[in-house]
Amino acid sequence: MSQIVVVGSCSMDLVVTSNKRPNAGETVLGESFKTVPGGKGANQAVASARLGADVYMVGRVGDDAYGQDIVNNLQAQGVRTTYMKSVTEMESGTAHIILAEGDNSIVVVKGANNEVTPDYVKEALSTIDDIGMVLIQQEIPEETVEAVCAICSENEIPVILNPAPARKVTQQILDQAAYITPNEHEAALMFDRLTIEEALRQYPNKLLITEGKNGVRYFDGSKEILVPGYPVKAVDTTGAGDTFNGALAVALTEGKPLYDALAFANFAASISVTKFGAQGACRQEKNWRERNEKKRHLKQSHRQGTR
Ligand code: RIB
Repeated sequence: MSQIVVVGSCSMDLVVTSNKRPNAGETVLGESFKTVPGGKGANQAVASARLGADVYMVGRVGDDAYGQDIVNNLQAQGVRTTYMKSVTEMESGTAHIILAEGDNSIVVVKGANNEVTPDYVKEALSTIDDIGMVLIQQEIPEETVEAVCAICSENEIPVILNPAPARKVTQQILDQAAYITPNEHEAALMFDRLTIEEALRQYPNKLLITEGKNGVRYFDGSKEILVPGYPVKAVDTTGAGDTFNGALAVALTEGKPLYDALAFANFAASISVTKFGAQGACRQEKNWRERNEKKRHLKQSHRQGTR
């Protein structure tokens, strides 16, 4: 099977839960504090690996305890870490998360993620064989996102750009990425001169706008399509978008048609919100996948009378 390469951020998430989100200048009491692995890149890599893909993470950590824990966690999840070099002069990336009133607020300090430079990534991409898909997000320098899109377009490697956190991107990036997966807020910022409908029409089968539990919307060349989400009881939505992107990469690399790949990614994301932590519930996706594949196989055999 060809490899999925995730270029992006790896961080430690410092998560506080509280009944109330503090206003500016206010102090509130929290319920709990936990330290769990996160970072959009690492979350996506872990989701893809848990779904059975062969995954490389291309990122950087500080030469500190968090950095060691981040790399150990990736390895424990079956992600290849050859291109996870540590930098001495910077601390590992951290995300400071408040879970309150049913949603999260996050402040990211990029730290060593700023050292995921174009040169660092070029070296990795030129030495990994048989790359089927590259996944990239925006917690690393913008010039790296540009360089990755350019290298991949030259080598005909499809790129999924998950433009989170939101920032404006160049036309070159929009043209060279094979798939772009903003949520509604990110899409509004990226395409501020267009309505969402116009943006979807401009990038058929490429711009895939996620709408949380509603699902994901795209334009198939003749009509707008909503691939519905799956209703679940959400415990923690942190990282749901990352699981969506990791699962989408797996499904597309396996050759699933776009609609089916999106339905698969929606399901994986819906399961991911049922447990605490950005990587917390993904483990269950594999079981879900095995169960569903068995069911589908039984149905097919039944139809063909081979049971
Ligand atoms: O997408 C969720 C991730 O965003 C968290 O794990 C946190 O690290 C932030 O970067």
